[in-house]
Amino acid sequence: MIDPWGSEDVKEEKLMNEFGIEKFSGFSGKIPDNLLMRRGIIFGQMDFGKIADCIKNRKKFVMMTGLMPSGAFHLGHKIVADQIIYYQKLGAKIYLCVADVEAYNMRLASLEKLRRIAIEEYLTNYIALGLRPKNCDFYFQSNRSSSSAKANAYYRLISMIPKKVTLNELKAIYGDLSPGKIISVMHQVSDILHSQLKEFEDKGPVVVPVGIDQAPHLRLTRDVAARFSQAKEFDFILPSSTYHKFMKGLRGGKMSSSDPTSFIALTDGPKTAREKIIKHAFSGGRDTVEEHREKGGVPEVDISYQMLYYMFEPDDKKIKKIYEDYKSGKILTGELKQILTEKIAKFLIEHKEKREKARDKVHEFIS
Ligand code: TRP
Repeated sequence: MIDPWGSEDVKEEKLMNEFGIEKFSGFSGKIPDNLLMRRGIIFGQMDFGKIADCIKNRKKFVMMTGLMPSGAFHLGHKIVADQIIYYQKLGAKIYLCVADVEAYNMRLASLEKLRRIAIEEYLTNYIALGLRPKNCDFYFQSNRSSSSAKANAYYRLISMIPKKVTLNELKAIYGDLSPGKIISVMHQVSDILHSQLKEFEDKGPVVVPVGIDQAPHLRLTRDVAARFSQAKEFDFILPSSTYHKFMKGLRGGKMSSSDPTSFIALTDGPKTAREKIIKHAFSGGRDTVEEHREKGGVPEVDISYQMLYYMFEPDDKKIKKIYEDYKSGKILTGELKQILTEKIAKFLIEHKEKREKARDKVHEFIS
C-alpha cells in the first residue's frame, strides 16, 4: 500500500506490478525528445499509448496535474514543471490544479496562505520556466471557475463520486481514513475526470504526469470512470498517466519544502546553493583521496551526480563521461560538486531574471 500523504520513500519499480504500471521506456524515442523520458526518470505509464497516438497524429488531448502548495518551490518541483511545459509545447490543453482543498484539510494552513504560496512560488516559477497562458487552465480546488456552468459541473461531479465507491474499497486503497482524506480523494478524482465533461473539453484522452505516490489515486479514478460510463451517467475515456522518480534531497532522503537543508529552491542565490551543496549534498566519494583514486566513487548514491543526471547536464555524452570518471576515481567529490555548482549558479541567475518578468504575467493565468 502507498500512503499518498506519508513521507516514506517508495521503491518505484517494486510498485509497478501492484498498480498495473508498465514501463515507459518503449515510448521514449517515439515522441519528441525529453530528457526525463530518455533517462528513465519518467519510468512508468498506464495507457500512455493513447497519448503517444495523439501526439503523433496531432490530435487533441489534455494534460492534467495538480500541486500541493507547500512552501518553497524547489528542484523536485521542477521535474513536474518541465513535463507540463513539454506537453503544452506539443499542443496539449493544460489543466493545472492547485490542491488547496487537499492542503487545507491535510496540513495546517489557511486557504488564503495556500493561495499565496501557489501563486508566488509555484505559478511564478512555472511561468519563468516557460509555461504560457494560452491553452492553460490554472485553477484552485476551492474555486474552480468564474463560469457557474463550469463550476457547477466540477462540484456536481465531486458530489456524485461517493456513489461509485465503497468505504471498504477506500480502506483497502488508503488504509486509515479521515474526513479530510476522503474529501481530498473526491476532489482529485473530479480533477482528473472533469475535463471530459461537456462543460469543459468533452470526452477525450487525458494524461496525468505524477510521482509514484499518486498511483493509488489514479487507480481509483480509472475504476470510478469505468463505473460512470457503465451506468451511462457519463462517457469517460480512462485517464492515462505517467510516473516519475523524485529528485532526492541533498542529504539523500526526501526533498521536502519543510526542510531547507534538503532542497535547493529556485529562489536560492548561487551562493546559498553552493553552500548547501558543499555542506549537505551526500557524497558517493571515499574517505580519503587515496582510497577514492583506488576504488572510485559511487555515482549511484551521490546526490551531486544525480542532480546533474536529472537536470543539470543534458548532454548524454558528457554525463556518461562524468559517470565514468567519478566511478573510476579520476574525479573527486570536490571536483564533481564544482561541476554541479557552476551549472546551478548559471541556471539560478538566469532563472531569477525570468522570474522577475514572470510576476507581471501572473494575472494572465488567474481570472
Ligand atoms: N494529491 C496531489 C499531490 O499531493 C495533488 C493533486 C490534486 C493532483 N489533484 C490532482 C495530482 C490531480 C494529479 C492530478 O500532489
